[in-house]
Amino acid sequence: MEFSHRSNMGNDESSISFSTGKSAQERGLSHVPESYVIPTSHDPNLHPETAKVPVVDLSGLRPASAQRSLVIQDIKNACHRMGFFQIINHGINQSLMDGALSSAFGFFNLPTPEKMKLMSNDVHKPVRYGTSIKDGIDNIQFWRVFLKHYAHPLEDWILSWPANPPYYREKMGNYCSEVRKLGLELMGAITESLGLGSAYLSDKMNEGMQVMAVNCYPPCPNPNVALGLPPHSDYSCLTIVLQSSPGLEIMDMEEGKWGKVPKLHGALQVHVGDHLEVLSNGLYKSVVHRAILNCERTRISIASLMSLGLDEKLGTAEELVDEQHPKRYKESSFGDFLNFLSANDIGEGKAFIDTLKIIK
Ligand code: OGA
Ligand code: NI
Repeated sequence: MEFSHRSNMGNDESSISFSTGKSAQERGLSHVPESYVIPTSHDPNLHPETAKVPVVDLSGLRPASAQRSLVIQDIKNACHRMGFFQIINHGINQSLMDGALSSAFGFFNLPTPEKMKLMSNDVHKPVRYGTSIKDGIDNIQFWRVFLKHYAHPLEDWILSWPANPPYYREKMGNYCSEVRKLGLELMGAITESLGLGSAYLSDKMNEGMQVMAVNCYPPCPNPNVALGLPPHSDYSCLTIVLQSSPGLEIMDMEEGKWGKVPKLHGALQVHVGDHLEVLSNGLYKSVVHRAILNCERTRISIASLMSLGLDEKLGTAEELVDEQHPKRYKESSFGDFLNFLSANDIGEGKAFIDTLKIIK
C-alpha cells in the first residue's frame, strides 16, 4: 500500500512516497526526514529534569492489611497531584515482565512482510500493526512502530494475535492476565480513594476492555527533532506501562514543565486516563505524557489500557456532584474515543478529554 507524506518541505525524503512498513524508523535511516520534524515549540529537551514521580508500594494493599488505608491515601495523593505514579511490590514476577518484553522484541524483529500481514490504519481493528499514529494520514509522523491488540477476554482474542514469534501468544498472554488483575485491584483502590467504595466499578470493569499498545521506538539519528509519541493523555480509566528502558516524559501541571520518569527497576508506571478524570469530576486529572527518543537503543513499552466495554458509557459519579461541585464532563465510551481518534490528528494537539468538558 503506497502512502505519500503530507509534508510540503520539498526535502528528498519527504517528497517521495514509500510503503508503510518501510518507514524511516523501520529502515534505520541515518537522518530524520522533514515529515517527522516537530514544530520547535514542542522540541524535546534532551536534558529534562527528572519528574517528582510518586512511588507507591502496593504490598500493603491486600484487603486484610493494616496498611491498606495508608496505601489508599498514597494513591489518592498521587492521582490528585500528578495523575501518574510508579508502583513497586505489585506482585507481577520479573520473569513474566521479561517474557512480555522479549516477545515484543521478537515480534518487531520479524521481517517486514510478516508484520505487514497485520498492518492497518483502521483504529477499530482489534489487532493491528502500524507506524507513527496513522501513518500517511496525520500531518506529522512519529518515530514509533506499534502493535495493538485487545486482550480481554483472552480466549476471544489470543488466536488473532501474531503467530510469530512462536512464544508471543503464551508469554504476552501470561503478562496480560496478570496485569489485568493488577489493574482491577488498582481500580478498586482508586474508587475507594474517591470515597465510592472498592466495588463501585468492579462489575463493569470485569466486563470491560483491555487494549495492549505494544510500542517500539527504534534508535533515532537526531532525537532532538522528532518524538516517539506526541503529548497526549490516554482515554482509559487506567493505563499500566511496562518499559524496557526510560523514555517516558510527563507534564507536571503544577510546575508547568516536562519531566522524565526516572528508572526504577521492576516498577510499573500507572497513568490516570481521561475516563477516570471524568468519573472523579476532575478531582483526578489524566496525565499528559509523551515518548522521547534516543540514538542508541531500541526502546519497547507495553501499555495496558483498561476501560469499560466498547459501548458502555462512563460518566461522572453522581456521589461527587453537588451544588458546589457541578458536573464538569459529558459521559463517553471507548467506542466514542475510537471515533474521535479516527477523525482527529492527535499530533496536532487535539485531545479527547477536551471534547468531554462541560466546564472548561
Ligand atoms: C501509549 C503511551 C508511552 C511510552 O502507548 O499511550 O503513552 O512510553 N506510551 O511508550
Ligand atoms: Ni499514552
